[in-house]
Amino acid sequence: MKVASSNAELVASLPQQGAGCHFVPTMGALHEGHATLIRVAAAACEGADVAVSIFVNPTQFDDPSDLSRYPRTLEQDLDLCRAAGATIVYVPSVTDVYPPGDGLPSTPIPDQATKPALEDALRPGHFAGVCQVVRRLFDLVRPRAAYFGEKDWQQLQVIAAMTSMLSLPVRVVPVPTVREADGLAMSSRNRFLSPDDRRRGLSLSLALCEARRAATPARAEEIMRDVMRRAGAEPDYAVVRDAATLLPRSSGEAAPMRALVAARVGAVRLIDNAAWMPGAQA
Ligand code: PAF
Repeated sequence: MKVASSNAELVASLPQQGAGCHFVPTMGALHEGHATLIRVAAAACEGADVAVSIFVNPTQFDDPSDLSRYPRTLEQDLDLCRAAGATIVYVPSVTDVYPPGDGLPSTPIPDQATKPALEDALRPGHFAGVCQVVRRLFDLVRPRAAYFGEKDWQQLQVIAAMTSMLSLPVRVVPVPTVREADGLAMSSRNRFLSPDDRRRGLSLSLALCEARRAATPARAEEIMRDVMRRAGAEPDYAVVRDAATLLPRSSGEAAPMRALVAARVGAVRLIDNAAWMPGAQA
């Protein structure tokens, strides 16, 4: 496995750049969820490189204290990348990604990043930063496929829409959420949960499960909020939306739907989501 700490080293380590590599962009603090993304990429790459980037992107943090608190665990991250099958790890500096004075192309922001009033409303500017860095990383790494976890469902829809708006030659591959044995979705933030808060955090996946017995989106939303509140989590939202646009659905449409929840548990904010259909468990 090669480690590229600059753009020049990245270019030198991508001998098969013409064919395009399989790419897993990350911000580090890697866990089993990331290892799964890398393993899925390695299983699909047919001999091409599997590149992982580790870059804590400053432009997607709306809160500077969140950026400074973000865990940095490079040595363990490199071990995990190696074990999961990465062939290149790109660890750029801020100036590699955002060269000073260099007019990078502006990146379009799809409706999924501004209209749903979910993460977009709670973290203003976050998805503009995500679109900017993902587009820049795609330009630098030139992958043919890029892998993103379904846990960040809104991010996944934003990136898929941005890639399609720009007609970028990258296949955006969704990878199902990896969960702890008790159902908690894996996240770099879980390490900040106290044992009590971790128990409260379980209410997010439980809420998604319970919502499956509802016959309507409105009832599902009520159930999810109730389950989380009863456990002592403070919901930011609990909604059932069109899975692709993330907007509320008019009744009668037959496209897939997604239940999405976010809640504060102590000092930590957790998100989760799952496919939803009326009365799935009835
Ligand atoms: O999901 C993440 O880790 C980040 O938002 C991403 C996609 C690597 C962009 O910085």
